[in-house]
Amino acid sequence: MKKKIAILGSTGSIGKSTLSIISKNIKDFEILLLSTNKNIKEINKQCKKFKPKFIIINDSDSYKKFARKNKNNCKVFNTYKDISKLKKKIDYTISAISGFDGLEPTLEIIPFSKTIAIANKESLICGWNLIKKKIVKYQTNFIPIDSEHFSIWSLLKGTNSKIEKIYITASGGPFFKKNIKQMKNIKPNQAIKHPKWNMGKKISIDSATMINKVFELIEAKNIFDIDLRNLKILIHPDSYVHAIVKFQNGITKLLIHDTDMKVPIFNSIYQNEKKILKSNSLDISKLNNLKFETVKMNQFQSIKILKLFKNVNNSLYETVLVSANDELVSLFLQNKIRFLDITKKLIMIMNLKEFKKMRQRKPKNFDEISKLNKYVRLKTHSLCVRSNRNV
Ligand SMILES: NC(=O)c1ccc[n+]([C@@H]2O[C@H](COP(=O)([O-])OP(=O)(O)OC[C@H]3O[C@@H](n4cnc5c(N)ncnc54)[C@H](OP(=O)(O)O)[C@@H]3O)[C@@H](O)[C@H]2O)c1
Repeated sequence: MKKKIAILGSTGSIGKSTLSIISKNIKDFEILLLSTNKNIKEINKQCKKFKPKFIIINDSDSYKKFARKNKNNCKVFNTYKDISKLKKKIDYTISAISGFDGLEPTLEIIPFSKTIAIANKESLICGWNLIKKKIVKYQTNFIPIDSEHFSIWSLLKGTNSKIEKIYITASGGPFFKKNIKQMKNIKPNQAIKHPKWNMGKKISIDSATMINKVFELIEAKNIFDIDLRNLKILIHPDSYVHAIVKFQNGITKLLIHDTDMKVPIFNSIYQNEKKILKSNSLDISKLNNLKFETVKMNQFQSIKILKLFKNVNNSLYETVLVSANDELVSLFLQNKIRFLDITKKLIMIMNLKEFKKMRQRKPKNFDEISKLNKYVRLKTHSLCVRSNRNV
């Protein structure tokens, strides 16, 4: 039987990698749903090639433009609420929208998905308790796709021993060799060029500021139910090892794969099947030269934010972090703030009394998270754009 597939964010980097894996064995799949924000040119191309039953175009103007001219044999929707109209159970969904906006579609699609592979880390950070409740209720199999979390998830398979420590590796991003002074005048086109990974703009900027690693530690804390104190970041510029898990039985395992997101995506699609993914041979010279370093806090101040999350579990404070960062990255991409301001302003916002109070509040539902997200983005925007006039 053909595997029924849904891709949230099919026009992005993860979405396209997923389609490229699927296209190698297209006869094994039925594409039920593809989605985009506003890239109608790309989704039209995908429609012609993959013939999805449904597509969702989130941006209203782009939706209207596309719907008017649509000659493809598929239904087009403008909202993720319409996912219920699929009426078929999806075998495999990948959640690959970028930023906070990935949370609602992820929550909407879980009831219709047998397996959900989540790349959108922001939703795992802000809405983990809501996601967890839904995957339990609808008996949906969950697979993390972020390479580090996919690695940890793989390393935990077949082990009964408890985890003593998890080490998450970081390439250090494009500015690993620069000091603060040299990072002063960095422009968006420099910050989106990651030395090891080919990714979307938002996550590339997050890697350059290293807030991506703060996200990943919180993400790992949620998914693997482990205290932040037992999670460590190791700088590993080769990005050959993605995660190291030390167990309480004395065994330590580490996972290596090519720096290509196709590896976690491929293995999440073909979990128990003997399929072959072409990959590079084991690189002995890299293995003989594995270099790991701890993070220099004075170079990447964003890591300090982790201290604010001590004893914080699935609260609304995580939404403050993700929302303020989403807004700051967007302002930087529009050249409205400077590179170093992203972290500086983020730390300032996280320390505001009205937001620190959120550490004690657990999100009850999506609307509560969404309302806070809008408020934090507005506040961040007004604080940063106003304060910039004085710079
Ligand atoms: N790329 C990686 O290697 C990687 C690795 C680990 C984790 N992740 C995570 O995976 C997620 C996707 O990353 P990416 O690099 O693939 O991002 P990306 O290339 O920017 O693609 C994002 C996708 O989401 C869609 N989208 C953006 N805003 C939307 C909105 N408001 N509503 C609906 N759809 C929207 C985009 O549509 P348009 O094309 O119209 O903009 C695009 O299809 C992120 O959360 C990221 O942190 C990525």
